[in-house]
Amino acid sequence: MIDVSKQLKVPPLDPYFFIQEEDKINMDRLEKLSEKHPINVLVTGNQGCGKSSLVRQFASYYKRPMVTFQVGLLLEAGQLFGQQRLKEGETFYQSFLFSNVIRVPGCVIHLEEINRSENPHALNELFSVLSEDRSIWIDEFGLIEVAPRVIFFATMNEGAEFSGTDELDAALKDRFYRVRLEYPPLSVEKEILVLKTGVSSSVADEILNIVNKLRHNKQAPVDVSIRHSLMIAELAAMGAPLREAIIYSLQISMNVLESLLLSIHVETGDMKEELSHYERYVPPDYVPPQGG
Ligand SMILES: Nc1ncnc2c1ncn2[C@@H]1O[C@H](COP(=O)(O)OP(=O)(O)OP(=O)(O)O)[C@@H](O)[C@H]1O
Ligand SMILES: [Mg+2]
Repeated sequence: MIDVSKQLKVPPLDPYFFIQEEDKINMDRLEKLSEKHPINVLVTGNQGCGKSSLVRQFASYYKRPMVTFQVGLLLEAGQLFGQQRLKEGETFYQSFLFSNVIRVPGCVIHLEEINRSENPHALNELFSVLSEDRSIWIDEFGLIEVAPRVIFFATMNEGAEFSGTDELDAALKDRFYRVRLEYPPLSVEKEILVLKTGVSSSVADEILNIVNKLRHNKQAPVDVSIRHSLMIAELAAMGAPLREAIIYSLQISMNVLESLLLSIHVETGDMKEELSHYERYVPPDYVPPQGG
């Protein structure tokens, strides 16, 4: 088997990542627990609330190498560990990255969208590595043991449930500590927008004012995650007027947006005129072909 430990990296720290104080304290407890015995952590929360970022930040914070596996893409059992291959008429067993990284001490292994596996049986082999004995027998190369201090982090969207049979659900869920992430309050979200995108405090206020109204819109609430508010702020930081920054970031009907903007008296000026003016989308030095 290949030694991948040198290729794995500690992810960069996000200097502007915010979590609740209790969660932070708890992450530290989990880190300490992992020194004593193997642990798994399931991070749940709404879309774009920072689940994947939390796993990355944890790895970075404790200087652990990290790898992410898209569990949602797994089609069959065994796909994580390796597969029989054919080469010049001979079959051989090729081990995959997963078999190698679980043997890197202290590695953070992120199982993304664990509830979205195409085929629940694809997760069968995970059971044994997630259990206390942390090992799995693979006929082709014998017993694989998970290295000390390895932490498995699974992430999944709130509301969504594990797919597959109930038995499987319970067995899998049973093996995890739980961290439920909430969207931070607006004041913190504002800080995130300002720090990460460089928009002014007043622009951040304007963005969040609208975003908040969209989220609580009685007729048709729009699910605007921090990811989305960041996207809006990034466009605004690039000089986009608020209205455009929103339109280009969200799946939202013009009518809803217009009535919202009206209701909160945001100046839209001559924006309507401007938006309906079309331009060719070509580079400034583009020369059209002759005779065209
Ligand atoms: N608490 C936070 N502090 C700072 N930035 C955050 C926070 N939460 C989310 N973000 C930012 O929002 C974006 C989306 O976060 P992330 O991808 O971690 O969300 P997720 O919950 O994993 O989303 P999904 O449900 O789509 O997998 C990232 O750019 C991240 O940096
Ligand atoms: Mg994610």
